Amino acid sequence: MVEFTLRPARAEDMDDVHRMLQPYVLRRILLGKDLVVLYEATQEFVVAVDAHDRVIGCGALHVMWEDLGEVRTLLVADEWLHTGVGRAIVERLEANARELGLTRLFCLTFETAFFHRRGFEEIGEHVVSPDVYSQLVRSPDEGIAEFLDLAHVKPNTLGNTRMLKRLV
Ligand SMILES: CC(C)(COP(=O)(O)OP(=O)(O)OC[C@H]1O[C@@H](n2cnc3c(N)ncnc32)[C@H](O)[C@@H]1OP(=O)(O)O)[C@@H](O)C(=O)NCCC(=O)NCCS
Repeated sequence: MVEFTLRPARAEDMDDVHRMLQPYVLRRILLGKDLVVLYEATQEFVVAVDAHDRVIGCGALHVMWEDLGEVRTLLVADEWLHTGVGRAIVERLEANARELGLTRLFCLTFETAFFHRRGFEEIGEHVVSPDVYSQLVRSPDEGIAEFLDLAHVKPNTLGNTRMLKRLV
């Protein structure tokens, strides 16, 4: 039985997250993040650690609007794939989202089967009202630009699928 545990990320974990993220950034699977952006987002992250407290997976919950969050920067180390780590991280992020009062979770992903099994469904363009759209577009966050499918981030999102889960 493989042993791992989940815990809220500590700032010192972000160096590991940054290192583990790079191969996926190079392959345009995940959005690149500068180390400072990761440190700033420490409280958003859950990490999975092995028996020696080494980071073997991570995921973040980013709040976008009063009812809406995004699962982002979800990854699991190669040697731990298909052992339930990704599922456990998503379940923890969903629990965190519920505690924050969110009712919808978005993700932009190539891992459609994985998210489909977690209850996420493919969505089209319009999941927020024009009024909310006009507020979201003010955000400097690149992930929100991807959520809105803005032209300047289209090269990042090619081939990705937009998915949404209702938490209620
Ligand atoms: C998506 C990703 C995080 C999934 O991570 P993972 O840890 O392999 O996921 P899990 O092990 O929880 O689940 C994958 C499948 O492995 C199998 N599995 C899970 N636990 C298992 C176990 N103990 N024994 C055997 N197989 C197992 C199952 O088929 C499972 O699917 P299911 O639970 O939905 O039926 C991982 O593939 C990844 O890092 N991808 C690259 C980055 C990425 O695209 N991230 C998503 C962007 S939002």
